[in-house]
Amino acid sequence: MKHFLKLLDYSGKEIIEMLNLADQLKYEQKHGIEHKHLAGKTLGMIFQKASTRTRVSFEVGMYQLGGYPLFLSANDMQIGRGEPVQDTARVLSRFLDGIMIRTFEQAEVETLAEYGSIPVINGLTDFCHPCQVMADLMTIRESKGSLEGLKLCFIGDGNNMANSLIVGGLKTGMSVTIACPEGYDPPKEILDFAKEYGDKFGLYRDPKEAAKNADVVYTDVWASMGQEEEAQLRAKSFAGIYCVDADLMSVTNKDCMVLHCLPAHRGEEITADVFEAHASEIFEEAENRLHAQKAVLVTMMKD
Ligand code: CP
Ligand code: NVA
Repeated sequence: MKHFLKLLDYSGKEIIEMLNLADQLKYEQKHGIEHKHLAGKTLGMIFQKASTRTRVSFEVGMYQLGGYPLFLSANDMQIGRGEPVQDTARVLSRFLDGIMIRTFEQAEVETLAEYGSIPVINGLTDFCHPCQVMADLMTIRESKGSLEGLKLCFIGDGNNMANSLIVGGLKTGMSVTIACPEGYDPPKEILDFAKEYGDKFGLYRDPKEAAKNADVVYTDVWASMGQEEEAQLRAKSFAGIYCVDADLMSVTNKDCMVLHCLPAHRGEEITADVFEAHASEIFEEAENRLHAQKAVLVTMMKD
């Protein structure tokens, strides 16, 4: 049984193979070439948190692959009233061919996979966002030709996005730096993983030091979903420093890309001028959620 729970579970080679398939599926979609690899298959999509991109790209992606997506709001499911995830997993496995889940705890996704008997795909947890990073890697490779040897710099909270970018970036041959305030470092598990890559990884407090000679600058919100109550406190630690602005971009390599998983807060983690100057990259990245996830779906669910 194949699951897509976190990038730590995949080798660089396996990630690249999925990116190759994503490129092929994008080509086929753009040229009207049918690719119904999942004809007759069903995907349940459980959402415990809000979503625009993930929901729409999975739903449309399943349709384009010949399958059927079911949107399952956790608020309307018994899981939202306390039915154990172990039972939900065993019931849904009898109806569906795959599950995509967006939730809080990574442990819930892992338990769903352990107790179910169908592929489980992580559509974001507090720990990681592997589907987003597949689209990010695809976008960088499309623009730069290859990933090997590039420098990716993340500015902001050591959150789910930072975690998946560190793992995905290092595994595919990039060097990765992150600049975050003290107290907002990525978790130990991720830092231990990154340590194995020696000087290909760097953790900084000063964004400009981290961004020096970067080929890609990436940022994300200061307060993630579920951290709404901490937003004001977090803003005090991040404001005015952990912001992708023209001054930060002055130390990067020429033709440095700027990516953002979205939604973006202009004037907080990114200025409006930098966002608009890189809007074509950022919205290509958003589109690539569709193609990259179709590759994940086919890899996990095709017989
Ligand atoms: N980037 C991302 O996952 O967007 P949504 O929250 O809209 O799904
Ligand atoms: N870190 C953000 C990512 C949203 C796609 C969050 O978890 O809310």
